[in-house]
Parts: sequence; C-alpha cells; structure tokens
Amino acid sequence: MTNKQIRVFSGVQPSGDPQLGNYLGAFRGWVKKQSEKDNFFCVVDLHALTVTPSPEDLKKQTRELAAVLFACGLDPDQSTLFVQSHVSAHAEGCWLLNCVTPIGWLERMTQFKDKSEGKERVSTGLLDYPVLMAGDILLYDADEVPVGEDQKQHVELSRDIAERFNRLYGETFKIPRPVIPEIGGRVMGLNDPNVKMSKSFADIRGHAIRILDTPEEIERSFMRAVTDSSNEIVFSNSPEKAGVNNLLGIYKVITEKSEEEVEKDFASARGYGDLKKAVAEVVIEELRPIKEKYLELMKDVSELDRLLSVGAQQASSIAFLKLDQMKEKMGLILPVSKELI
Ligand code: AMP
Ligand code: TRP
Repeated sequence: MTNKQIRVFSGVQPSGDPQLGNYLGAFRGWVKKQSEKDNFFCVVDLHALTVTPSPEDLKKQTRELAAVLFACGLDPDQSTLFVQSHVSAHAEGCWLLNCVTPIGWLERMTQFKDKSEGKERVSTGLLDYPVLMAGDILLYDADEVPVGEDQKQHVELSRDIAERFNRLYGETFKIPRPVIPEIGGRVMGLNDPNVKMSKSFADIRGHAIRILDTPEEIERSFMRAVTDSSNEIVFSNSPEKAGVNNLLGIYKVITEKSEEEVEKDFASARGYGDLKKAVAEVVIEELRPIKEKYLELMKDVSELDRLLSVGAQQASSIAFLKLDQMKEKMGLILPVSKELI
C-alpha cells in the first residue's frame, strides 16, 4: 500500500559497529519502504548510555551510525533521521511515562533480565530503557514500528503504556504495532549460528560482518564460518544445519531469490567452500557502494551534522506538540511564553 498517512518509527543504538544483521534485518527494509510511508528513524544515543560507553566512543559511534544510515540510502527528502538527545522531548516524555508505568512491567522484560543477570549493580537506566523507547514511539503517534524479533516485547510494552495513559488521562496516544521483517529478521553469528549476530560481539573474531569491513575482511569471515560435517547445501531447520541455513538465508535476502532458486544456484557446488565464496561475493557487492558513500559523508562531518539538525527540527515539530498535550492532560501548567524561559 502506498500511504504516506502511515507513520513509521524505529530506532537503533550507536553502540558497537553496525553489522550485517542490522543491515538485513532493519536498515535495508527501512530504505526499501521509505517512499511508501511517513518515516522517522532515530539514532538512540540516550539508550546507548545504559551500557556506559566511553564519551569518545559514543560521540564517534553516533556520527558513524548516522552516516551509515544515510549511506544505506535513507533519503532526507523521504525520511527524517535524527539523534535522540537532540530532541529533549524524548527524555521529558520518558519521565511522564515513568509515572504511569508499574515497575513490575519493567522487571518482567526479558532483555532486562538477560542484561542484568549475574550483575552486582544495574543502573536505573537499564530498567527504564523500555519506557524511553515507548516515549520515542508514542511522541510521534507511530502506526508501525519495524524491529527485529528481540524488540517485539518492548513495542508491546509501549502499547500497554499507551493504553494505560489513555485510560487514566483520556485519548492521547495512537496504539503502535510492531512490524517484524519476514526475511532477514534473524541473521546469526558466523562463529556460532545459534547466537544472533550482534554489534556487541562484533569484536569477536569471525562473529559478525561489519557493514564497514573491507572486502578482504568479509571474505575471511565467511570462509571461517561454522557449517557442519555433511555437504548438503539446502535450507533446513535442523540444528546441525544452522550454519548453512544462515549462509543461504543471507544470500537469499540479498539476491531476492526464492528458496528453490537459491538451492538451484548451489546444486552443482563442490562443497561449502563454494557456498561461502558465493555468499561473500554478494555481500561484498551489496556493501561496496554503502562503504563508498559512507567515506564520502565522513569527509565533511559538518554536512552530516547539518543533515542531522534538519532531522531534529522536523522531529521536534511533532514531538513537542505531543509532549505539551501529555503535560496538559496530566495537570502540568504550560509556560505562558516559551521565549521567556
Ligand atoms: P540493535 O543492534 O540491537 O540496536 O538493533 C537495531 C536493529 O537491527 C533492530 O531492529 C534489530 O532487531 C535489528 N537487528 C540487530 N541484529 C540483528 C540480526 N542479527 N538479525 C536481524 N536483525 C537484527
Ligand atoms: N531498543 C531498540 C534496539 O535496541 C532501539 C530503539 C530505541 C527503538 N527506541 C526505539 C526501536 C523505538 C524502535 C522504536 O534495537
């Protein structure tokens, strides 16, 4: 459906190096669909603070991720891309939503349980993370939130928070729905096909393909990918074939072929070496123009910063209206003239 009335919101954290799973599971789909909808994409630097990166890393990774997103094809004329902390309504909205969110809802989140398990000290930010995310989404009255499977629970929590706020204070928010990509939804680690490929493990040798890796690095990582001891190149759900299945899945998403066509491509392959080479090749060709555009953008960060401030202005024009609505409904008085403060 071509419908600019449908508003899309999604976010990505500037923590670690963006990797192939981010690209196939998120960025590629955002770009492909951007002309059909009204899109807001956010580099969520406030969320990244929950894992306490060094200030230098956070600065560097925020710009790099924004440049990668533009390089992947996000078009400022079609989509609004901005940095979360540039629009202070997100942090303020989070506080207001905190006050309607029962703490038990947050303690039940599986990501919180995973990330806090075994830790002696856990920041309040880590627990509150999904409320900040709910604010991101609800401030824009987003209809659709494209995310990977792992974030579905957080989007469902945003729905619960929106419904609770609407019940307590009257109709204020649209109820968003998570949209999980059918393909590319779960790219697995090359060193362990039972673990999702993740930015957090991008430093582990052979785990991830980083979007900005050189062709040699990409080829090397694929050639080392874990497979199995047979030599059947077919899609399969069996746990032993998880490695081969992952490689075929990556090839399928990029070439946009059907499973039958993909299997046919490898019918005369001599073994997994041929499969790995072919997958490396399509990935290298897919990422080549992205890396070129990225390098061009990073040559002049002032232009990148300008694009991000335009994005922040566009986002602000929506987010602050909603924030004022929330405040009014909750009984906060608004300042008479914003110019005076
Ligand atoms: P994150 O890297 O966790 O901030 O995720 C940013 C976006 O990329 C989210 O929509 C994730 O679900 C998606 N994503 C991250 N890793 C993968 C993966 N291995 N496969 C598919 N999608 C992913
Ligand atoms: N929590 C998401 C992730 O780690 C990132 C995110 C923050 C997000 N705010 C969002 C995703 C709003 C969708 C909508 O992937």
